Amino acid sequence: MKTSGGSDAMKRRAGESAAEAVTDGDVVGLGTGSTAAHAIRRLGDRVDAGLDVRGVPTSFASRELAVGAGIPCLDLSEAVGLDGPGIDLAIDGADQVATGVNGGGAPDTGGALIKGGGAAHAREKLVDAAADRFLVVADPSKESPRLDRPVPVEVLPSGRTAVAAAVREADGEPTLRRAERKDGPVVTDNGNLVLDCAFGEIADPVALSATLAEVPGVVEHGLFVGMTDEIHVGTESGVRIES
Ligand code: 5RP
Repeated sequence: MKTSGGSDAMKRRAGESAAEAVTDGDVVGLGTGSTAAHAIRRLGDRVDAGLDVRGVPTSFASRELAVGAGIPCLDLSEAVGLDGPGIDLAIDGADQVATGVNGGGAPDTGGALIKGGGAAHAREKLVDAAADRFLVVADPSKESPRLDRPVPVEVLPSGRTAVAAAVREADGEPTLRRAERKDGPVVTDNGNLVLDCAFGEIADPVALSATLAEVPGVVEHGLFVGMTDEIHVGTESGVRIES
């Protein structure tokens, strides 16, 4: 599974800390990426020890990991709906976590995220938004007073150039994400493409989120605003929990 930023020990502390927040009977959203993977493995250990949980994976990779760890899994459509049990909490990583409050009249963006480094943000947003509590797991390298990383935007393949034009119109610079070891683009679990869209420092993530969501052809973008309930930051010596 792809690893970015921070040390693996710090990611492990964050993931395992969030996994300890799960209680018997919970339905848990299972995020994607190397930090969320630590939470999934720890949950698997707790299932071995008798914990009764069901997972709702956010990607093919997180499903594989969960099944391998012995965690019974539900699809989102089974978990959420008229007869579904719902999702008690979701645990997921992030590529950047805003720690600051914006000036200039823009809304407070503390806890806003950029996600999608693993191209899983469309399902991640569905699962994380459906959960009663959303726990973000990160190491300090992900924290920043302002969001300024490129925003991953999942697009329908046929809409790629139209979405790229709309992103430029919004003062962004789109780059088609290419597979590292293959001669071609990254294709998401949903069969779509990803444009990584650089906007520089994002002064108003709420406004940019709305702008991107309105572009025809955009399946989902990686700005997660107003969703975070708790952040578990793995450090050199332990875990810091922000809420
Ligand atoms: C996948 C994601 C990941 O949560 C994000 O890329 C963080 O990954 P990692 O924990 O490996 O640094 O958004 O789409």
